[in-house]
Amino acid sequence: MKIKKVAIIHGPNLNLLGQREPDHYGNLTLKDINNNLSVEASKLDLNIDLYQSNSESEIVNKIQSLKCDFIIINPAAYTHSSVAIRDALAAMKIPFIEVHISNVFSREDFRKKSFFSDIAIGVISGLGTEGYCAALNYVAKLNK
Ligand code: DQA
Repeated sequence: MKIKKVAIIHGPNLNLLGQREPDHYGNLTLKDINNNLSVEASKLDLNIDLYQSNSESEIVNKIQSLKCDFIIINPAAYTHSSVAIRDALAAMKIPFIEVHISNVFSREDFRKKSFFSDIAIGVISGLGTEGYCAALNYVAKLNK
């Protein structure tokens, strides 16, 4: 199957990137990250749908409404708590990559548990904001 459309979902508090704990999350804002992704997507000939929400139910509704071939998601804090978002991804059967800006395995113990990793195609954690573009490049390679 040719992958044309990729949804990129940013979870809670990622709207604060740039000012939020830069030691963990770097200095780029969400707008910077999304701009970088848009440039990369056009080079890779992929369409992207960019979305951020702080609300679990809104993210569930968004996933249920998606018409896309692949998802790149940073569920942020919901990584460690949300059966509802996991179930939405499982129900839609759209392959996805889980991305974390920080290395969740080098932080508090509660961040080591993910409700997503076992059903993800793969997980990128700790590559900073580059992790999103790395995921997008992986997706583009599936078309080759
Ligand atoms: C995060 C890691 C999560 O533990 C945290 O709650 C976040 C961001 C990351 O990108 O490193 O909000 O997903």
